[in-house]
Amino acid sequence: MSKPHLFITGANRGIGLEMVKQFAQSNWKVSACCRNPATATELFALAQENTDIKLYALDVTDYQAVTNLADELKDVSFDLLINNAGIYGPKGSSLDNLDIEAWRQVFETNTIAPLKLIQAFTPHVAASEGKRIAVLSSKMGSISDNQSGSAYIYRSSKTALNQVIKSLSIDLSPQRIQVIALHPGWVRTEMGGPNGLIDTTESVTGLKSVMTSEIKTGHFYNYDGSEIAW
Ligand SMILES: NC(=O)c1ccc[n+]([C@@H]2O[C@H](COP(=O)([O-])OP(=O)(O)OC[C@H]3O[C@@H](n4cnc5c(N)ncnc54)[C@H](OP(=O)(O)O)[C@@H]3O)[C@@H](O)[C@H]2O)c1
Repeated sequence: MSKPHLFITGANRGIGLEMVKQFAQSNWKVSACCRNPATATELFALAQENTDIKLYALDVTDYQAVTNLADELKDVSFDLLINNAGIYGPKGSSLDNLDIEAWRQVFETNTIAPLKLIQAFTPHVAASEGKRIAVLSSKMGSISDNQSGSAYIYRSSKTALNQVIKSLSIDLSPQRIQVIALHPGWVRTEMGGPNGLIDTTESVTGLKSVMTSEIKTGHFYNYDGSEIAW
């Protein structure tokens, strides 16, 4: 039996880098994308040690590059596609402090780019055994969970992403592709900061277990396997 194959974006640091490590350790092939392979030292070292890890340069908001890469890899199937790349935008966006241009950029990366990526790579997932797509969302995008307000930019980008994920789960079901949203916990990364509650190892151990277990398409999962209300 051939090894399962993961395709992942934003793989040079944080949660994405840990995903590459853990899936490769579990004997998966990994196609890992990052914006700038020249500075992705740790990811590059992993690929040097393991020929099953292939690196690709990809800015997810460069839609021509996304199309070109999908074309370059048209004969490759991906059992699992993880849209991990994301940005927070300016910290402390509040009612009195809203950077509209930054909001547009966060929407581009967190909401529009995942849909464009999945659109381009749906044939590669449809051709696989696994047929799964997982998208890193955030509990901060859950309307039901919003008790503290503010954070307009990041919250709204992930709420809109959740709606994209739900529609994709319906639209791709005829091809038997499952699509889920994930919350990784509050993780100590560049985005999560030093006060995060868990490290990348704990987060990704949980996320990997969710992504490789039985799941319900169109649902929103925490890293511990529990479901989150939209
Ligand atoms: N950390 C948390 O507590 C937390 C909580 C909830 C959800 N999340 C979500 O989990 C995902 C990963 O977060 P993280 O904590 O690992 O963040 P991180 O450490 O800031 O890493 C973000 C990754 O996304 C990449 N990226 C950003 N914009 C990109 C673009 N236009 N094209 C390609 N790659 C791009 C970054 O690449 P560069 O190095 O080139 O910038 C980096 O590899 C994000 O979607 C985030 O929203 C994180």
